[in-house]
Amino acid sequence: MANIIECKNVSFNFVSEDNVETKVLDDISLSIAEGEFVSILGHNGSGKSTLAKHLNGVYVPTQGKVYVDGMDTSDEDKILDIRKKVGMVFQNPDNQIVATIVEEDVAFGPENLGMHSDEIRRRVNGALATVGLSEYAKHASYKLSGGQKQRLAIAGILAMTPKCIVLDEPTAMLDPVGRAEVIKIITQLNKKLGITIVLITHYMNEVVGSDRLVIMDGGKIRLQGTPKEVFSNLEVIRSCGLEVPQTAELMAELGETDDLPLTVSECADRIIEMKGLDV
Ligand SMILES: Nc1ncnc2c1ncn2[C@@H]1O[C@H](COP(=O)(O)OP(=O)(O)OP(=O)(O)O)[C@@H](O)[C@H]1O
Ligand SMILES: [Mg+2]
Repeated sequence: MANIIECKNVSFNFVSEDNVETKVLDDISLSIAEGEFVSILGHNGSGKSTLAKHLNGVYVPTQGKVYVDGMDTSDEDKILDIRKKVGMVFQNPDNQIVATIVEEDVAFGPENLGMHSDEIRRRVNGALATVGLSEYAKHASYKLSGGQKQRLAIAGILAMTPKCIVLDEPTAMLDPVGRAEVIKIITQLNKKLGITIVLITHYMNEVVGSDRLVIMDGGKIRLQGTPKEVFSNLEVIRSCGLEVPQTAELMAELGETDDLPLTVSECADRIIEMKGLDV
């Protein structure tokens, strides 16, 4: 399948006011296929958000190239097209709301593109239905819960019909109910609509269903693979300052790391099988 995103040998330096350069991304090469669900993990300051901002041209590499659907993000003529292909959702739900009424917030992006009002209405209704907020269309956006606000932010992006959505810790400020709602919607967007998802999170239980995990450390990619492959490397994960899912830890204790069971039900099945239990 075609790659929606290609990072080729990307390095990025921040330059301070007194001209001191800090290398934050160091020779990152990463391809993301259309329709893939990729999660990025890494401890604080490992460069995740900086990488995310390269994926729709908010930052351009100091060295190397990022291509979005074949378009070079350093080509200023392409930046609008790139932003239409790759939408971003950030951590703080309150910072992403631009209008006081829910449906007006979703309409903001399409309106700015000068779209016909019938098309705007169609997109707004479609996006609100997809994130489960249709009944809140006329509500005040600031009154929504945190999880609903993040779903509203996602609807605003869906109204731009993106191929890919990058979410930088979208659940970090939510309660468990809001977190579950947002992860459910993201998963549906990927599985039902084929939208490519890049999810940055600190919650291990949110990544076990991903197609691929990318572990960052010190501005580099330290490890990548399927969740089963990555979480089989407990020592490497820990050396990157990350927790491992409790399921992986339990299976490691039991010496059951072949085709590592990661969900609770997979673990239960494996234990039943190991013990020859009859249930
Ligand atoms: N505007 C900036 N100017 C200078 N340095 C910065 C700037 N933004 C980030 N950094 C530095 O770049 C490094 C990577 O930051 P980044 O925000 O990408 O990390 P992160 O993995 O997203 O961390 P977190 O988990 O805390 O969100 C950090 O050392 C940070 O201090
Ligand atoms: Mg960050």
